[in-house]
Amino acid sequence: MAAIPRQLLIRRPDDWHVHLRDGAMLRAVAPETARVFRRAIVMPNLLPPITTAAAAAAYRERILAAVDASTGFEPLMTAYLTDTIAAAELERGFAEGVFTAAKLYPARATTNAEAGVSDLAHITPALEAMERIGMPLLIHGEVTDPEVDVFDREEVFIERHLDPLLRRHQGLKVVFEHITTAEAVAFVAAGPPTLAATITPHHLQINRNAMFRGGLRPDAYCLPVAKRELHRIALRGAATSGEPRFFLGTDSAPHSRQAKESACGCAGIFNAPHALESYAQVFEQEGALERLEAFASEFGPRFYGLPRNEDRIELVRQPLEVPLMMELGGAGESPQPLVPFQAGETLPWQIKSATD
Ligand code: DOR
Ligand code: ZN
Repeated sequence: MAAIPRQLLIRRPDDWHVHLRDGAMLRAVAPETARVFRRAIVMPNLLPPITTAAAAAAYRERILAAVDASTGFEPLMTAYLTDTIAAAELERGFAEGVFTAAKLYPARATTNAEAGVSDLAHITPALEAMERIGMPLLIHGEVTDPEVDVFDREEVFIERHLDPLLRRHQGLKVVFEHITTAEAVAFVAAGPPTLAATITPHHLQINRNAMFRGGLRPDAYCLPVAKRELHRIALRGAATSGEPRFFLGTDSAPHSRQAKESACGCAGIFNAPHALESYAQVFEQEGALERLEAFASEFGPRFYGLPRNEDRIELVRQPLEVPLMMELGGAGESPQPLVPFQAGETLPWQIKSATD
């Protein structure tokens, strides 16, 4: 086995799926993403959701105000698809450079998905327009049918909705977000070149047992929910394979402590503070560190048709202790207590410095 390097200098990564929230939570969490990632695809599931170019432009300004300008962080905005979204609004927002993509939440599939799409037939004009103008569709791929077991919802979504959708819209670029199953890995690997998938650090690190380790663990709960070990193994294989259609998307999704530690706790894992380090741990364990850069910094821009970042970020092989709790907040604001993913664990890699 090749010796493990002591440092890694990689092209600066982007996060192709993140929840930055709004208000005080935005000011608490956005700097964590901006510190490491140059660009991020920002999810539109605010209350109310981002459904217009004007709302997205205003949200982008609030994000930029929340981060250190010297990072050069660039939020890439998305439109939230609803049953009544106007294709013209998507086209206008895309043409103006406000919208990079549009997000499909099946209605009620997850946090703030109440206004999502109840039937794909309702958004046919929007999808046709997106296909025509080259605007990517980002999909939360889970059925919401209560008859379907929560652990099967991704697999069933593929056969009921995703496969037919790709056949109907053969030119539409689609990102199957945060995939969690061996079935999704196989489907994407065998799919058309217009199809790609993001993979989160948490779905590479935990299986469903993590939610029940010694008691009920709300910090390991997200949607799509973590699956059996065989699925985690398949995801690790996909992420580290060097196959360009799998790339980095953290799905970092912070919630307040009250919202997590509740009788009906919210779905979402907050991994922004150590996401890149977490991916590095996985790639090292899989003997694939030399493929981390492509997964984190090359395949995403290639799929989106955007330039790669030119500056580099350095990881050093020094133990990083992930705190049990982080108190994050904007200047003069009361800090938000947030439990980071892998709290209390020691990761083998940490970020050293950025060089231009
Ligand atoms: O776990 C999740 N949290 N999954 C999602 O799809 C949404 C996200 C959130 O916004 O909290
Ligand atoms: Zn998400």
